[in-house]
Order: sequence, then structure tokens, then C-alpha cells
Amino acid sequence: MNELLDLIKKRRSTRKFTEEPISRADLEVILEAGRWAPSGHNQQSWFFTVISDKAMFAELNQRFREAAQHSSEAFVHKILAKQDFDIFYHAPVAVLVSAREDAILTEANCAAATQNMLLVAESLGLGSCWVGFAGFPFINGQGQDLCEKLAVPEGFRPLYAVVLGHKQLQNKEVRGPKRKENWVHYHSFFGE
Ligand SMILES: Cc1cc2nc3c(=O)[nH]c(=O)nc-3n(C[C@H](O)[C@H](O)[C@H](O)COP(=O)(O)O)c2cc1C
Repeated sequence: MNELLDLIKKRRSTRKFTEEPISRADLEVILEAGRWAPSGHNQQSWFFTVISDKAMFAELNQRFREAAQHSSEAFVHKILAKQDFDIFYHAPVAVLVSAREDAILTEANCAAATQNMLLVAESLGLGSCWVGFAGFPFINGQGQDLCEKLAVPEGFRPLYAVVLGHKQLQNKEVRGPKRKENWVHYHSFFGE
């Protein structure tokens, strides 16, 4: 079995964290993994912001709630109905991933960086979750005040966060979603 494929299959989104912080050394390995992602035209159009401050998490969560009111998605409104829902799942740390808005394929670049971080977190035995909700307060040019507080560079927009921490449950205790069948068609492969 291929070790990386094993890790890819084993990784699950973690939504229950212990209160224990992660080490600075682990965080730096994870950030480095994001930095080494591929990017369109090698533009490396991401910027990472590390957050561990509970007041900032609370503010972002509240701003998510405000922005999400305008969503047309029923599942978002179901989530809003849960008053105590925390988009960061009380994780001790989050890395906010921002995209340089004038770069080509900038969301794809940031997604590649995000996935690298999730996989390296898993390799370190840490739990992680990709949180798209973290980008809601910044849609349509909103959230400039938050960008200033977080020192997100000008011309960048936060898209999502990677929450990180120690898992309360091990991967095999978390029900993973089934992967879909019929996901590939071999148009041709050397005459097979
Ligand atoms: C672009 C993107 C946005 C996501 N946003 C959220 C989110 O806001 N909150 C959340 O709990 N999970 C989020 N997820 C995680 C998915 O729900 C999860 O990856 C999916 O259900 C598959 O489960 P697995 O990660 O355990 O394989 C997101 C994943 C992606 C790729």
C-alpha cells in the first residue's frame, strides 16, 4: 500500500478537539506544507494568518452568523438555528487562508495549500477541519475591519480556515462519508 494514499484515506474532518494547544513546531511544519503547494503560474497567491485568540474566534463566529443570514442555502440556515454552533469547533488554533485577488486561479492555489496543511496535520497525529464558513464575513468586499485587525495584506481576501488541534476521537471512531462510485472514465490507457 502507498503510505501517502493510506494517510489520505485515513484523514477525517475533526470537529471535536481537546483544549490542549498544538506546539509551535507542529504549527510551523503545517504552515510549511501550505507554502509548498503548487500554484497557477507559480504565483503562490496565498497568505496565512494564525489565530489562537478566543475573542477573535468569537468575533469571526458572530460575523459568520451575520453574513450567513443572506445565504440561499437551507443547510446554512439549519446551522444558524443552532445558537451555540461554533464554526471553529472550539479548536485551539486556526490558520486563516487568504487569496490574492488579482492572481490567476487564486482559489485553486489556496485550496491546494489548504489540503497540504490538512494532510501534514494528519501525519503529525493532529485533527483538522477545512472551514469554508470562515470566509463568509469577507464575501462581496465585506469584513475590511476584520482584515485590518488580522493584518491580512491589502489585495487579499480570506477564503477559509484550517482549524487544528488534538482529536477527542480517533479517526476510526468518526463516521467518514462514503466516497462516490463511478468517478472515473478511462477514455484510453495504452490499449488496455
Ligand atoms: C471547500 C470546503 C469547505 C468546507 N467547509 C466546511 C465548514 O465550513 N465546516 C465544516 O465542518 N466542514 C467543512 N468542510 C469539510 C467537509 O464537510 C468534509 O471534508 C467532507 O464532509 C468529507 O469528510 P472528510 O473530510 O472527513 O473526508 C469543508 C470542506 C471543503 C473542501
